[in-house]
Amino acid sequence: MCPDALNKPGGRAEDPAQHAGQNAGQNAGQGPALSSGSGPRAGGDGQAIVSCRGLEKDYRQGDFVVHAVRGLDLDIRAGDFATLAGPSGSGKTTLLNMIGGLDRPTGGSVVVDGQELSGMNKAELAEMRLRKIGFVFQSYNLIPVLSAAENIEFILRLSGVPAKERHERAMQALADVGLAGMENRRPAHLSGGQQQRVAVARALIGRPAIVLADEPTANLDSKTTGELIDLMAGLNQRLGITFLMGTHDQRVIARARRQIEMTDGRISRDEDV
Ligand SMILES: Nc1ncnc2c1ncn2[C@@H]1O[C@H](COP(=O)(O)OP(=O)(O)OP(=O)(O)O)[C@@H](O)[C@H]1O
Ligand SMILES: [Mg+2]
Repeated sequence: MCPDALNKPGGRAEDPAQHAGQNAGQNAGQGPALSSGSGPRAGGDGQAIVSCRGLEKDYRQGDFVVHAVRGLDLDIRAGDFATLAGPSGSGKTTLLNMIGGLDRPTGGSVVVDGQELSGMNKAELAEMRLRKIGFVFQSYNLIPVLSAAENIEFILRLSGVPAKERHERAMQALADVGLAGMENRRPAHLSGGQQQRVAVARALIGRPAIVLADEPTANLDSKTTGELIDLMAGLNQRLGITFLMGTHDQRVIARARRQIEMTDGRISRDEDV
């Protein structure tokens, strides 16, 4: 089965064909479903999961160069529940894509869970994504022909988890995001909020070092946004999952425990709240 439906971040990944892991559960071959114990990632212990140093990204358009990210330093710590806000065009998606290994920096470095990304080839980046990054996108990016459970199991299949365990873990993950009993529904028969819950379960099924979410609530109404942010905050508190969420949504920003803002490709504010 082709993972292409997982490979559309709504943006500008350099080579979508290489991005099998980008929505994926990481360490997908190991460990229980979301609710079973805290696992090695839990904590909020302050250790840097992501370190960006002197990070730069230029986009060249003909004779014109857009400096999307301009010499940015940022550490995301284990257990952070952080929002990345800032005006449209300030570089949020560009930064998330570089941290997630979907786009390559023009300069500087990104280290994710101890691994420097800049020297990696495409296959190594794909593996890094599979092991370490969970992605949640505005448009959910579920595979339409697969059921909710199959959308999650699919990620474990990439890591060679046996069928029975795949199914059990997917069912538990669905229960963890409040979708018990909906395992056989295809995305078209789920609401937007329910689809995004499936996407969250899929992002977390393998216990990633960090979940990167780009405008995760942009297609959701107010009530559903509140429910999704409750879910993610609960996963952060209960399991210590680290979140970095690009967003314009004040309802999401208000729930963050760390508020980061970008302006013109740089960090203009970074506060624990
Ligand atoms: N592929 C590209 N080619 C050229 N310029 C680009 C490309 N991708 C992004 N840019 C430019 O880089 C800058 C940062 O864009 P980016 O998408 O990261 O901003 P953003 O903060 O995510 O905005 P939004 O809030 O609208 O999602 C913008 O000026 C944008 O036009
Ligand atoms: Mg964006």
